[in-house]
Amino acid sequence: MLTVKSLCVTYRMGETKRALEDVNFSMKRGEVLAIVGESGSGKSTLAQGLLRLFDFQRNVSVAGEIWFEGRQVFPDAQVDLKAYRGRSIGMVFQEPLLALNPLFKVGDQVSETLRHHFKLSKKAAKERVRQLFSELELDPDRYYRAFPFELSGGLRQRVMLAMAYVCQPQLVIADEPTSSLDAILRHKTMSFMVQKCENERSSLLLITHDMALAEQYANNIMVLYRGRLIEKGRTEQVLNNPQHWYTEKLISISHFYKERFTEHLNLTDDLSE
Ligand SMILES: Nc1ncnc2c1ncn2[C@@H]1O[C@H](COP(=O)(O)OP(=O)(O)OP(=O)(O)O)[C@@H](O)[C@H]1O
Ligand SMILES: [Mg+2]
Repeated sequence: MLTVKSLCVTYRMGETKRALEDVNFSMKRGEVLAIVGESGSGKSTLAQGLLRLFDFQRNVSVAGEIWFEGRQVFPDAQVDLKAYRGRSIGMVFQEPLLALNPLFKVGDQVSETLRHHFKLSKKAAKERVRQLFSELELDPDRYYRAFPFELSGGLRQRVMLAMAYVCQPQLVIADEPTSSLDAILRHKTMSFMVQKCENERSSLLLITHDMALAEQYANNIMVLYRGRLIEKGRTEQVLNNPQHWYTEKLISISHFYKERFTEHLNLTDDLSE
């Protein structure tokens, strides 16, 4: 459904910075694909490139090809870019507060997104959004009419999910969707997204620096290092038989934290006895 060929992105701000170098990959329907890499490796750049958000920035040059459902998206757009961005592809941004308009009620913002792409009455859109809020355990009676600043980080994050999924997109790109959440919310968020892949045959491009998260939820993993894709494959294959020293390092860091976390849990268990 998505094919990326030789994608290169260069930022020109004073000095020139090549943020992505010759990135090639494809995704299938229903797939959960994790892109893993440390801070600055180019993960968010990739997400923005896929959505052609660089069209709005003058200091960026992009090369390569992007194809979606058999049609070219970049360099020539054979798709309606407005529909492509909001309806075909949903986006969960790394910073929910930046993605929401502070002046509008969150329910109305999600509802307007829906009405922008589909001909629906205000009432029908509202009903659909209330349903989705309930699905996300975001009580519509309490939160539909709330402003973004009135919500905790976890609640705002669920509004972002509602925004991304409201048009039932074929692909969702989620940029660090759980990095500010506690363990229970992280699991609920991931389960919601993975279930959408299973039930609605949509796909998920999960951007994360957390190998453990990829291990738990992704079918396939790609590792990005300094703008280059250095490894890709099925999750078990990458984890059990990494081909690149950097992937090994990411795996060992994630094991280190897992052990520490387990130690910590044991300690708390002891204290509660
Ligand atoms: N608008 C921009 N102008 C100039 N350089 C940028 C811009 N956005 C990103 N970069 C640079 O491109 C590189 C990749 O950044 P990017 O935000 O894609 O990394 P990331 O993997 O998402 O990191 P993080 O995990 O911290 O979110 C970094 O070196 C960054 O400084
Ligand atoms: Mg990022």
